[in-house]
Amino acid sequence: MLHVWPGSAQAGERKRVASIRGMSVRLVELTADNVDAACLIEVKPEQQKFVGTVANSLAQAYVHSGTAWPRLILDDDRLVGFVMGNFDPESEIDAFRAGIWRLNIAADEQGRGYGRFAVDAIAEEARRRGLKRITVLWVRGEGSPEGFYLRMGFTPTGEVIGGETVGELFL
Ligand SMILES: CC(C)(COP(=O)(O)OP(=O)(O)OC[C@H]1O[C@@H](n2cnc3c(N)ncnc32)[C@H](O)[C@@H]1OP(=O)(O)O)[C@@H](O)C(=O)NCCC(=O)NCCS
Repeated sequence: MLHVWPGSAQAGERKRVASIRGMSVRLVELTADNVDAACLIEVKPEQQKFVGTVANSLAQAYVHSGTAWPRLILDDDRLVGFVMGNFDPESEIDAFRAGIWRLNIAADEQGRGYGRFAVDAIAEEARRRGLKRITVLWVRGEGSPEGFYLRMGFTPTGEVIGGETVGELFL
């Protein structure tokens, strides 16, 4: 179990609050206080080939700072996951203009609604930007998040980019 002490999130970062089975779940931005804990988030061993590490995602966010939207998912003071949106309306590739880039729910926190919360949060941020659709790319296979994204309402567009299936969700 990973903890981020309460003082690590500034008041202005606690924008999105939701209740899952009575729990208080929210997104917070990365800070000097929580970045080390963020890099300790691990998915299940059989899932690791389907998603980059949080450290890799933060490196990507650093070099794509204009489009990446990385956030931690906290439940009270418990760090339960990481999600990174990408909002790049000028991208030549339609599937990269708005959507979920990375999503990592900690292995022992899965199955509690945090993944759904993350998808809803990216959808909400997209709506806030005036967008009507988000996309996500996934790899198929044992341990793949495909079933999760289909459950969340994404439908495959028929495109495959770099071996990854493109899914879209209209908001
Ligand atoms: C995929 C992942 C994000 C799901 O997160 P989670 O917190 O366990 O999901 P939730 O608890 O919010 O599940 C929401 C619903 O999806 C279902 N679901 C979750 N994972 C599923 C899967 N692999 N296949 C089918 N359904 C799934 C749940 O049963 C639940 O169903 P419900 O609506 O009947 O309650 C998580 O397993 C994960 O981090 N996987 C490893 C990393 C990864 O693949 N990330 C995506 C990269 S693109």
